[in-house]
Amino acid sequence: MKADPAKPIVDDDFAFVRSFVRARAGLMLSPEKRYLVESRLGPVCRKLGMPDLSGLVRNLRAGRDRALERAVVEAMMTNETLFFRDGAAFSVVSQSVLPGLIADRAAQRRLRVWCSACSTGQEPYSIAMALDAMADRLAGWQVEIVATDISEEVLERARAGRYSQFEVQRGLPIRQLLQYFRQHGETWEISQRIRDMVRFEPINLIQDFGRLGRFDLILCRNVLIYFDNATKSQILGRLAQSLVTDGALMLGSAETVIGLTDQLVPDKRYKGLYARANGAKAAPLRAAG
Ligand SMILES: C[S@@+](CC[C@H](N)C(=O)[O-])C[C@H]1O[C@@H](n2cnc3c(N)ncnc32)[C@H](O)[C@@H]1O
Repeated sequence: MKADPAKPIVDDDFAFVRSFVRARAGLMLSPEKRYLVESRLGPVCRKLGMPDLSGLVRNLRAGRDRALERAVVEAMMTNETLFFRDGAAFSVVSQSVLPGLIADRAAQRRLRVWCSACSTGQEPYSIAMALDAMADRLAGWQVEIVATDISEEVLERARAGRYSQFEVQRGLPIRQLLQYFRQHGETWEISQRIRDMVRFEPINLIQDFGRLGRFDLILCRNVLIYFDNATKSQILGRLAQSLVTDGALMLGSAETVIGLTDQLVPDKRYKGLYARANGAKAAPLRAAG
């Protein structure tokens, strides 16, 4: 029979791919996502010179091809992102959360921010630009922005700091575009100064990330939506442990901690913002009597 990467995936192979990406990345693929698997893995077949999806899954089942395993996980990710995504969330971060943290840390002069599913870098670079605008308050401080993602491919793009016209048109105000980017033909490159503020590294959120240490602000946005509740609970619990006592966690607009962990409580300033339940910023459960 003729090889064809576009041939539909058979039931058994689809079930295997679903359990594989769930085990490796926490990603839940519903039974309706068959078209997604076919459309994402067809190009992987072509790139790795495999005849068709059944050949790809056969190699995947054999469990010896690390490059293939990585390529399958990467291909199944959704890396959609943009600068200053959810304007209201970023206003709260730059007008309330960061200034508050800076004021509270005047003695230590140290600030650590973690973007935990940073995709191609727009989110951590937005934080870096927001902090750069506060540079007068941060002179002599040790400021660290750690940006992580499961995908090496997006991290490589993020480190390069180069964006298309389309990407800079999405969310980035013209003032910041002119201030922080230089145009090279069709591409816009973010300044070395902003790039140097961010450290990118691979981290899989379903695995232990304790070695990163504790953070004043963690952004975990638009990634929990891909996981089941048990995985969300587990990750949220560990994120809470990675926050300093009075730190803040920002989730995406469609994400919540409600019903998933009691280690985090809503912060009144914004719907997607949370504090540690036992932390200095947590609201008392009951008004003092
Ligand atoms: C939709 S993007 C969100 C990017 C950014 N946080 C934002 O809100 O614009 C989701 C990112 O999560 C990453 N991701 C998915 N599963 C992950 C996991 N288990 N560990 C770490 N990152 C993961 C994907 O590679 C992708 O870059």
